[in-house]
Amino acid sequence: MQIIPQALFPSMVWSTLFDDREAFNAMLLERIYRLRESDPRGIIKTNVKGWQSPNILQDLPEFNDINLRILQVCDKIGESLKFNQNFEFRHQAWVNLSPPGAFNKLHFHPNCHFSGVYYVSLKAPECGSI
Ligand SMILES: [Fe+2]
Repeated sequence: MQIIPQALFPSMVWSTLFDDREAFNAMLLERIYRLRESDPRGIIKTNVKGWQSPNILQDLPEFNDINLRILQVCDKIGESLKFNQNFEFRHQAWVNLSPPGAFNKLHFHPNCHFSGVYYVSLKAPECGSI
């Protein structure tokens, strides 16, 4: 059996920067470290050599700011793709703390319109990006 690959559909990657990212990320980082303190073991899922929170950010009031921004970005992308104007995005989010050498295993996000990453702290070149 021969399987022939064809590049029919491109993978779009959208990116954005928040104007207040410096202050916003500092605030977020503080809350992330508190979250890790409350659950130092985290969960073992896709992150290797780092720390991963449970998939609960969407339910935590202290992460309302980032949750709202995620949904705003999804709305804008949905708009650009001509999604129905009444389309209501829902999301799930978690944290990965990945020191140099840590990485995420190949994984999928089934039943999702979009998958995204928000980098709170990225120190190139020790830490990579998408
Ligand atoms: Fe992922």
